[in-house]
Amino acid sequence: MNSKLKRIVNKIKDESLREKILGLLSDLSVNFGASSYSGMPIEEAPASRFHHHSYPGGLLEHTLSTINIAMAICDSIEKIYGGRVNRDLVISGVLLHDIFKPLTYERGENGAYRNSPLGERLDHLTLAASELIKRGFPLDLIHIVVASHGQAGPISPKTIEALICHIADEADSRMNAEVLNAAKYLVKEATGEVWDKMDSKTAFRILMLKAEGGWEGLKKNITVLKPG
Ligand SMILES: [Fe+2]
Ligand SMILES: [Fe+2]
Repeated sequence: MNSKLKRIVNKIKDESLREKILGLLSDLSVNFGASSYSGMPIEEAPASRFHHHSYPGGLLEHTLSTINIAMAICDSIEKIYGGRVNRDLVISGVLLHDIFKPLTYERGENGAYRNSPLGERLDHLTLAASELIKRGFPLDLIHIVVASHGQAGPISPKTIEALICHIADEADSRMNAEVLNAAKYLVKEATGEVWDKMDSKTAFRILMLKAEGGWEGLKKNITVLKPG
């Protein structure tokens, strides 16, 4: 398993929950009768086809960043508002909220992401709900996953842990989408080109070139960042 993901799993204090999550992460396949679907490895998967983190490794980046944001919200709730949060549930919820996405995507002949045959029939939240129920995960954790899209999903968050995960998910997705959009706009203005394949690290470098060197600095240095 990916070492960064494992480090996050190890923060879960409840041993039986931690073991269950380790078991799930090491076998994400789902079975329908005689057919088994397993999808692309987590390390290679995007977090969405076009909206945010839509490049290899995007899902892992999104999961790690969403954990950071969620932990900052937990700190704020506990230290400033005097509330109490079950961090095991928050960590587990963020880890699992998009974990079945790799099963719903595949790469087309042109390299672009598209829905897999499974993804054309079931979305990642439905898959997560059925699989987590089947594997005996706690109801409060399944709720966090199913409520992670907030009002846009099948059910809105009804616990503080679900609300934290939803807000953190939305914050990270939106930040990534807006930074990528801004970087693509700068590239178009500076070079006249469209860079479709861009990851977040390149996008942040482009934003920094513009912030530090203005349009001139950007035009002079941007070509070395062009994705291959
Ligand atoms: Fe999602
Ligand atoms: Fe997400």
